[in-house]
Amino acid sequence: MTEAAFNAKTFIQKQKPNFTPKLGLILGSGLSEIATSLEDATVIPYGDIPGFIQTTISGHAGVLTLGYLNGVPAVCLQGRIHYYEGFNNETVKTYIRTLKLLGAEILFLTNAAGSLHQDVPAGNLMMITDHINFQGHNPLIGPNDEAFGPRFFGMEEAYDLELRELLTTVAKNLELHLAQGIYAALLGPMFETPAEIRALRLLGVDAVGMSTVPEVIVARHCGLRVVAVSAITNLAAGMNKEALTHEDTLLHGQKAAKIMQKLIFGFTKGL
Ligand code: HPA
Repeated sequence: MTEAAFNAKTFIQKQKPNFTPKLGLILGSGLSEIATSLEDATVIPYGDIPGFIQTTISGHAGVLTLGYLNGVPAVCLQGRIHYYEGFNNETVKTYIRTLKLLGAEILFLTNAAGSLHQDVPAGNLMMITDHINFQGHNPLIGPNDEAFGPRFFGMEEAYDLELRELLTTVAKNLELHLAQGIYAALLGPMFETPAEIRALRLLGVDAVGMSTVPEVIVARHCGLRVVAVSAITNLAAGMNKEALTHEDTLLHGQKAAKIMQKLIFGFTKGL
């Protein structure tokens, strides 16, 4: 398992020698375009990287981009893999640990999510303050790789407080509305039932999606500082009359991407 990430790192470094990213970025559904603003970019299809797997979901480009964002060296995963695609824990671990081995210190995750609040509808951004793992799964199941982190570790401040404060200040300065809340990860691939959403609301959930949490778990295990923002693409199931579709997710994701881009740009200035 360690070997896969090391092989990927070696391959990627050969494509862009003497480049050490400080920031890792994961771009979710419909948010891939943000990577096009990286300067001096080197783009590598996942399929070329040992241990990486081509994504199967539309809206997920499936390329890794190395370059500079506002002068900050960054590595960007355009498109992620999800458990519902049938991938296993090794793949998630390889993606995140490769970013760590390349030198990244901070991981900025984005995703598309459904909102449980009528007053935070599609088009809004929500900074994740904490999460609940409802996937019934954990990427660290199996033997622990001590080279990356300890068997047992705390998740009290999984979403870095200092980085959250920076992001809040950036949003304020840019006059962007940035909601905050708890993200629940479900397995998918179907959207939730209205009953599930009502149950999640009782449990204090603010937004729901099918990703991010496995990546955050692996990232915290290996000591990456994490910050995450959901692009709200819809009100959650049962909250309005229309049925939920992936097309809507992509459409609203693309709209939110513009604001997300401003936010990420502002964030890099503060690093
Ligand atoms: N549920 C789960 N995942 C999602 C949603 C949702 O409502 N919207 C975008 N991703």
